[in-house]
Amino acid sequence: MPEKAELRIGNETIDLEVLEGSEGERALDIAELRSKTGFITMDPGYANTGSCESSICFINGEEGILRYRGYPIEQIADQCSFIETSYLLVYGELPNKEQLDNFRESIRYHTMLHEDFRLFYRALPKDAHPMAACSAACAALATFYPDSLDPRDSREIEISVHRLMAKLPTIASYAYNHSVGQPFMSPDNRLSYVGNLLHMLFATPCEPFEVDPVVEKALDLLFILHADHEQNCSTSTVRLVGSSHVNLFAAISAGINALWGPRHGGANQEVIEMLQAIAEEGITGKDFVERAKSRDDTSRLMGFGHRVYKNFDPRAKIIKKACFDVLQRLGVHSKLLEIAVELEELALKDEYFVERKLYPNVDFYSGVIYNAIGTPANMFTVMFAIGRLPGWIAQWNEMHQHKHKIGRPRQIYQGPTARDVTAIEGR
Ligand code: SDX
Repeated sequence: MPEKAELRIGNETIDLEVLEGSEGERALDIAELRSKTGFITMDPGYANTGSCESSICFINGEEGILRYRGYPIEQIADQCSFIETSYLLVYGELPNKEQLDNFRESIRYHTMLHEDFRLFYRALPKDAHPMAACSAACAALATFYPDSLDPRDSREIEISVHRLMAKLPTIASYAYNHSVGQPFMSPDNRLSYVGNLLHMLFATPCEPFEVDPVVEKALDLLFILHADHEQNCSTSTVRLVGSSHVNLFAAISAGINALWGPRHGGANQEVIEMLQAIAEEGITGKDFVERAKSRDDTSRLMGFGHRVYKNFDPRAKIIKKACFDVLQRLGVHSKLLEIAVELEELALKDEYFVERKLYPNVDFYSGVIYNAIGTPANMFTVMFAIGRLPGWIAQWNEMHQHKHKIGRPRQIYQGPTARDVTAIEGR
């Protein structure tokens, strides 16, 4: 018999069923609250509101735990590839060798973009932010593949999923190629998923290009760590837009736009610009931390704080370690990393951050690696999007695999009460 909670409003008392998850999280089921009481709940930012039941990703923010389909992120980061992790998120189980090879081959088969996409990019200004180009190009995929748009047809979904996984790196690379005035580099399907991306980003038709295995492994790790994260802003966007039964490409395009925001995935670009500004202004980390605490200053310690993690973001720990490893292997000295470490040390001892439980999040150190491997700052969030794509797809799929309503929140109206229009002469 499910546990019940009682809600008393005036002389009325109603029972609310208690929902319990596999990790012991509990929720009040308020699906009938308005019909039984006339009341709705209010929770701006949805900090206390569950939008769905999900079996994909689990976070314990107090203990700094992150698992994909039950597997701890530390083990996945250590033992799996990004494509293997993508298969796990999308299909629910780690693939065997045959399943992984088939998945990898199917994605390889779809890496090219229609030739007309070159015209699409040429229409954009050179300084177009790559996130704008990527969200637009992703939505435009629906115009090239009208045969696989029905979210209720499992075969069409399968084709769209593989097309999107395959084409987002090409879409991202074309956006970068266009921004630096270089020719669009076609995929080289002899390379790995990440190797192909590096090739399309940094190779030119006139020079041989060798993928650096250290860079390839670092980027693969970063994509794994970004792959999914419960109902974050962009994933919730993909679900909400997807709940109207629009095609996958359109829902993912919406997710890319949500991720672009500086409070969300755009923070990784903000972090590196923050570190560069500190270095260029010649101010100390302490000076900047004081600014980030001041109500009179809009500066924030970007890459710090999280809605769910009130302890260390486990991804930040792994990325910080990878920073030192990658930079050492590349023989790169990073002043930005030194500043980041100083800021972290200062903030973790500062009452302002301690009492607000503000710790480094996934974005705090990732930019140091992206920067060290030659990625321009305006491509950092694009990298986040490539990493997050399998998570968005998995969450969109999970929604469509279950009965679901169109997302349509309520509101409490605070505007003018009923009044009559007066003729313009009398206004
Ligand atoms: C991601 O949700 C996810 O899972 C997201 C993500 C994912 O994988 O999908 O993990 C990826 O988006 C990580 C977060 C990246 N964003 C940033 O690093 C931007 C900087 N951080 C913040 O803007 C903020 O911490 C948020 C947006 C991340 C969280 O915001 P909340 O939970 O709504 O908290 P809040 O803005 O209400 O802040 C609470 C207090 C405030 O102070 P008071 O008003 O109580 O005095 O903490 C302060 C804030 O001013 N605060 C900060 C701060 N973050 C919060 N002060 C200085 N620097 C910061 N970074």
